[in-house]
Amino acid sequence: MCGIFGIITNQEISVGKIALEGIKRLEYRGYDSCGIVTQYSSKLYIKKDAGKIDEIHKKIKLDEFPNGAKLALAHTRWATHGAPTKLNSHPHVDCHNKIAVVHNGILENFIELKEELQSKGHNFISETDTEIIPHLIEDYMENDLDFKNAVAKAIQRCEGAYGVAICHADYPNTIIAVRKESPIVVGIEEGNTSYCASDIPAFLPYTRTCYLLDDDEMAVLKPGSVEFFDVKDSNVPKKKAIQKIEWNIDAAEKGGYEHFMLKEIYEEPSALRRTLKISKDILKTFAKILWSAKNIYITAAGTSFYASLAGKFIITKFLDKYIEAIECSEFQIQLGDALKEDSVIIAISQSGETIDLIEAIRWAKEKLKNRVKVLSITNVVGSTLTRYSDHVILTQAGPEIGVAATKTYCTQVLTLGLVALEIADLRKILPDNEIEKYYDALRSTPDIIEDFLNNDIEILKKIVKNLEKTHNFFFLARGISLATAKEGGLKLKEIACRFIEGYSAAHAKHGPISLVRKDFPIIFIAPPDETYDRLVGNVMEFKARGGKIISLVVKSDKTITDLSDITIRINQPANKYYNLFSPITFIPALQLLAYFYSVDVGLDPDQPQNLAKTVTVH
Ligand code: AGP
Repeated sequence: MCGIFGIITNQEISVGKIALEGIKRLEYRGYDSCGIVTQYSSKLYIKKDAGKIDEIHKKIKLDEFPNGAKLALAHTRWATHGAPTKLNSHPHVDCHNKIAVVHNGILENFIELKEELQSKGHNFISETDTEIIPHLIEDYMENDLDFKNAVAKAIQRCEGAYGVAICHADYPNTIIAVRKESPIVVGIEEGNTSYCASDIPAFLPYTRTCYLLDDDEMAVLKPGSVEFFDVKDSNVPKKKAIQKIEWNIDAAEKGGYEHFMLKEIYEEPSALRRTLKISKDILKTFAKILWSAKNIYITAAGTSFYASLAGKFIITKFLDKYIEAIECSEFQIQLGDALKEDSVIIAISQSGETIDLIEAIRWAKEKLKNRVKVLSITNVVGSTLTRYSDHVILTQAGPEIGVAATKTYCTQVLTLGLVALEIADLRKILPDNEIEKYYDALRSTPDIIEDFLNNDIEILKKIVKNLEKTHNFFFLARGISLATAKEGGLKLKEIACRFIEGYSAAHAKHGPISLVRKDFPIIFIAPPDETYDRLVGNVMEFKARGGKIISLVVKSDKTITDLSDITIRINQPANKYYNLFSPITFIPALQLLAYFYSVDVGLDPDQPQNLAKTVTVH
């Protein structure tokens, strides 16, 4: 995944500076190289290099361009085709340095297109797939097409996923953006300045008026205005609805926190409160469809998959049907012809752009047409997932910039909790006052987290200080807390670079226990639910082998606390209503543990190595 940004204006402003700020806000999408191009006096001026944006800026002053430049394109890259080098950095240009392109996505047929263009004499200098685009456009322009129609023709030759923005040295008043399966949003400051970007926060300081480009659509940006076309019909403008963005730029800036990840953990209470207000109507729709489904699958990747594990557990409490959770990359291969008509797929994704998920859903839809329903839960309005879904719930986490998903996990589990209680309501399987107790517990999750964040986090810093930094360790749990263990383990893996395994406490006896030596740290996630007594047995087994026992428990806990070297305590009632939603209230402790660990070992939690926020490669 990469981030692209474009600006075109008629104002006396520094487009280089704004482009630089724009890609800084998109750096979560990729951070191994970057570049900016501006146009002035029929020439393109390009600065690019490998490395993080700040490092490159220090070296070559990324925002300094000729005064008077009125357009700029910028790119922050996460390498797919070709190593992160200066030559492979975007923008890429044609043979005559006239056409510049920034691209997010992957072109699947670039090898054959490259061979075709090379045979016509085009000269390529990078290993990227992207470089074919300026050359293709150049080729069509040499055959007498104008800029816009040449872009449309060239894009129709490209297979794969792309969000691209393109400028031409001889067209000072035009930026063209096109999308297929990689997001492009367009922002407009009426009459003055237009923007395009991979994500809204990039231009949010300047405008909240935007348009979401659909697949195979092309936006032709002029200063302060835009026209839209279908790529296949680039002469007839089409109308698109304006979107007004509710949140402001504070939501996408660090606001005094050292890292986005920390800020976003502290935003969990407010994100949950907003998500609690999801409309009853859409929850009812989800509930009815799930109740009448023959087969139900839940699918996602990474953190969203662990939210699915928690959600599946919560929903099955109130629905007499098994829900099969399948990682989206395995969905097609594991289900194959076993995916039958009248199935319902719950698809979960923060970004709504994870390619493995999109493919899984697309495959299911193509296979069964309207006889399969897709219910999706995502945080991003207009994302690709929403286009393939029958019904969508938008979580209200607000923009999440840290690569590690935190507040979005909590809001996903909460949303699934709301769906579960709606099913309980619908099926009348519990007395009203019983359901109300579950609702009370769910509604209390923001307060419980707030209380923890305000009062109890010092213990996490102490644990981090006391942990032998070379150690690997386990997160063990049973039942619903397995999701918490896996998600906690994932957070530590991705941002602290330690091999930490989230595992079933019961299953760990069948092999992994042999790793345990004196002081080997094991974190037990232990809400007082129906698995608690058996978990006590597991704690004793690991303690007997010398393990250092750290437990995550409720405040009133006694038995596991007495067996533990250290406890992390969550201030919530010890009853079944609250236990059911403990995946929401227990996870902040593990997110923060990972955060403090990462900072302690000198890593940048916002930019883990080898990772981008959204994975758009197979
Ligand atoms: C989360 O911390 C990870 N960076 C990653 O596992 C992520 O959850 C996964 O790639 C799925 O992303 P999505 O929710 O945007 O689909």
